[in-house]
Amino acid sequence: MNYEELQAAAGVIIERTGRESHDVALVLGSGLSDFAGTLPGAIEVPYTDLPGFPVPRVVGHGGSLFSAELEGGSALVFAGRVHYYEGWPLDKVVAGVRTAVMAGARIVVLTNAAGGVNPAFAPGDLVLITDHLNLTGANPLMGTNDDRLGTRFPDLTDLYSADLRALAGAVGDELKVDLKEGVYAWLSGPSYESPAEIQMVSRMGGDLVGMSTVPEAIAVRHMGAKVMGISLCTNLAAGISSTPLSHDEVKEVAGLAHDKFTRLLTELLPRLMAAGAT
Ligand code: HPA
Repeated sequence: MNYEELQAAAGVIIERTGRESHDVALVLGSGLSDFAGTLPGAIEVPYTDLPGFPVPRVVGHGGSLFSAELEGGSALVFAGRVHYYEGWPLDKVVAGVRTAVMAGARIVVLTNAAGGVNPAFAPGDLVLITDHLNLTGANPLMGTNDDRLGTRFPDLTDLYSADLRALAGAVGDELKVDLKEGVYAWLSGPSYESPAEIQMVSRMGGDLVGMSTVPEAIAVRHMGAKVMGISLCTNLAAGISSTPLSHDEVKEVAGLAHDKFTRLLTELLPRLMAAGAT
């Protein structure tokens, strides 16, 4: 989506929610969309009502955004995202987060289900993303740059803000929710990785593998907003796990982690609003 289309989508959000601005955006990953249902008084806007917006094609990924007033500000929560493996061009993959930043979000929290490469991770672990490996060769900023969105060559140092990670760590400590940290490697999917690819990721310094998040993080940085990434490790990655991988397993583990994930996000969002205000 180009600048004018993003502006139009942000305009519909403002009109439909009656909120001139949103402070924080949250993208819910596979199996994690139920969090949207916990938001008090949330206003739902189906993606089909947003002109030019991509609508998810994978069953179980949802397809609406929710606007909720929380302590300290308002949040825009995306229940369902589209993926590169569905065949969408990357400008559509990042349309949601770009629209959120257009609608005022200064912080974007990206969540996902991921495979654990680091042997210290177990299914059910929540992991704060510290950095990424882009192993697809694709980038959402390829093509003509629109300077109104951001610079041609954005720097990706501290992309997953250390300040915000420290804040999440403090919330995790208070709630006694264990948070690990790791580097997320993006591979296109939709096939899961081969065991040899997982060995490669491990030697390259990757701790997690997944099929999302990285293009969105790059687009958010391009527009000058802050990024936080949280992975739910749903399975041990191929070859580390002794059993074949399945999407059902991913959804099942995500379901089991719902309470922990909800407690963390419920406390974290208002803190992020306070952090974003400074
Ligand atoms: N690989 C890639 N994506 C994933 C995985 C995985 O093992 N688990 C959940 N999403």
